[in-house]
Amino acid sequence: MLNLNKLFETIKIDIKNSKTIEELDEIRIKYLGKKGVFISYIKNLKNLPFEEKKKYSIVINQKKQEIISQINQKKQKLITLILEKRIRKETIDISLPGRRTECGCFHPITQTINYIKHFFLKLGFQSVNGPEIEDEYHNFDALNIPQNHPARDSHDTFWFDNIRLLRTQTSSMQIRIMKKEKPPIRFIFPGKVYRNDYDITHTPMFHQIEGLIVDKNINFSNLKWIIYKFLYDFFGNKVSIKFRPSYFPFTVLSAEVDIINHYGKPLEILGCGIVHPNVLKNVNIDSKVYSACAFGIGIERMTMLRYGISDIRSFFENDIRFLNQFKYN
Ligand code: DAH
Repeated sequence: MLNLNKLFETIKIDIKNSKTIEELDEIRIKYLGKKGVFISYIKNLKNLPFEEKKKYSIVINQKKQEIISQINQKKQKLITLILEKRIRKETIDISLPGRRTECGCFHPITQTINYIKHFFLKLGFQSVNGPEIEDEYHNFDALNIPQNHPARDSHDTFWFDNIRLLRTQTSSMQIRIMKKEKPPIRFIFPGKVYRNDYDITHTPMFHQIEGLIVDKNINFSNLKWIIYKFLYDFFGNKVSIKFRPSYFPFTVLSAEVDIINHYGKPLEILGCGIVHPNVLKNVNIDSKVYSACAFGIGIERMTMLRYGISDIRSFFENDIRFLNQFKYN
């Protein structure tokens, strides 16, 4: 009995000193396992007289139960400790600012196109995109541009073969739409155009918005009215606008429009005119009944003037410092 009490004390100290669940397991196996100390005590009981056997087996069992419950208590303590340690290690500082995804925005050219589109849609125009790969007929022939015209030169035009090319102007859409629709016609055609040119004011790809009105009695005043209305809306009504006589094969009465920039220098932003009777003839519209006016706006130039950008190439260099400036427009 004395030995048992001593043993019990030793086990209690062992349990108390154990620092890990593995150590605790070893203690359990050592004392309570099949080859453990308690089993050997129980085995020894058989040599005792019946009354003592009874008495001791009760005491041994009590002690055994006590040790089991102490081991379990210690195990719970260790589990809690391990968990607390882990929680402390993995603490999240919720006051730290999170990683943000930068918000993008539309490209300034897209913003200008959307703005202009919105203006003309309000006036009852419809907007249509056309093919960028065009043929000679729609880009040149039907627009009254003769075979020997310098614009056709391979220095300016990107040809695929004898017939197909990258359109050099959105005016090709005038032909496509006049062949498809019956007057009255009121359309705009935004999109990319291509010319073999590269410097501070030219890129091989740029954007235009073409406008076309076909109706009875369309004249130059109608054209001027709409251009003024549009430019005042886009630049504000203090802008200085200059109509300059010009020449295009597909218009008779042709003009170019300049905007005077911040430095007093005129910058050409669009071409326009009264559609040539030959063009109407090519699309089977009777020029004795109908007349038409058209315009082609240079999107890059408009955007440059609006924001004071001096090099057209900055639109296409994908420099995030440049593009970020158009975020809140
Ligand atoms: N297509 C011409 C160009 O790219 C611009 C233009 C001029 C369009 C006169 C028109 C127009 O519709 O009537 O330079």
